[in-house]
Amino acid sequence: MDKIFVTRPLLPDIKDYEREIEEIFESKWLTNMGQKHNELEGKLKDVLKVPNTSLFNNGTIALLTALKAMNLPYDSEVITTPFTFAATPHCIVWNGCKPVFCDIEPNTMTIDADKIESLITPNTSAILGVHVYGFPCNVEKIDKIAKKHNLKVIYDGAHTFSTEINGTGIGNFGDITMFSFHATKLFNTIEGGCLTYKDDNLKRKIYNLRNFGIQSEEVVEDVGINGKMNEFQAAMGLENLKIYKQEQAKRAKIKAFYDENLATVEGIRIPQMPKGVTNSYQYYPIVIGDEYPVSRNELYNRFKEHNILTRKYFYPACTDYECYKNDLTVKLAYLPVVNDLKNRVLCLPYYGNLKEETLEFICNFIKGIKG
Ligand SMILES: Cc1ncc(COP(=O)(O)O)c(C=O)c1O
Repeated sequence: MDKIFVTRPLLPDIKDYEREIEEIFESKWLTNMGQKHNELEGKLKDVLKVPNTSLFNNGTIALLTALKAMNLPYDSEVITTPFTFAATPHCIVWNGCKPVFCDIEPNTMTIDADKIESLITPNTSAILGVHVYGFPCNVEKIDKIAKKHNLKVIYDGAHTFSTEINGTGIGNFGDITMFSFHATKLFNTIEGGCLTYKDDNLKRKIYNLRNFGIQSEEVVEDVGINGKMNEFQAAMGLENLKIYKQEQAKRAKIKAFYDENLATVEGIRIPQMPKGVTNSYQYYPIVIGDEYPVSRNELYNRFKEHNILTRKYFYPACTDYECYKNDLTVKLAYLPVVNDLKNRVLCLPYYGNLKEETLEFICNFIKGIKG
């Protein structure tokens, strides 16, 4: 069998992208908030149902800038989860703050809001939740805690493109939310990202920070960075905006197939989306329990022997990284759910053009495993 990857990038018809590129060549405007950039930034407000969007060259720089825009005191503590991609805690450290790692909920695998308050100290400045795999954090509880303790709330929504909670775009919760438009994400701009926020006053601050802090030809207002999305990225976004819903519809069918075939397999748990939440269709994670004949790692290896490349997201946990594991706070952190689930979750291949015969093979393979 040819290699089956965990995902494949969403690509528009090449003719449509060529037309976009021709327009860029005609305009001779390649980057620095060009026409396509501005068009995409505007359109995304409607798609994400948010009042403000700011585009970025990638999600990591967007998150870095989100934290910077919150003016968190140097050396303050930001409560987050280690069950995420490296970028999440790295952005905290690059902002001169300390990540304090909180455990996660077993179903949504997002930060356990009930465990946040015990980690708050006089030095805590913010909570950084991750809507992992498209499952939303407990935004209501986090909001209450943040208000009570006067903390900023930042969300890493890299996996939640177009997710809504009871009809509200997920980018409206907290002070600011980051979306990633990396090639592996459901909606991609090759590399790219976006910040969404309710406070209109943040617009100018973020605009500056994304462009070296330059306010005008002779005024540099902030210590900014180069976070600008270029026109070729924006063009890809404009074309992918036209087709992402078709991709979601295809993935919805794949999800239904997996759900139907795997729900009754002993030892396999399929995490459920909370009521009222729309699915971004970014990942399809399953949890391998003790009743399953082999471990998650063994299942991963056996799939690999058949050229099926599943992913052990998120293994290792960020608290296992060389750069974090020796910190005293990390050594003392109590993370039973993270340390269990990091060895149990497997993300299955999940993209619109996955063939039915491959899907059948994957499901039968999981059902047929012997210890
Ligand atoms: C949870 C999470 N946060 C942040 C990022 C970083 O985004 P980017 O790759 O666009 O920099 C990613 C993935 O790429 C991610 O999965």
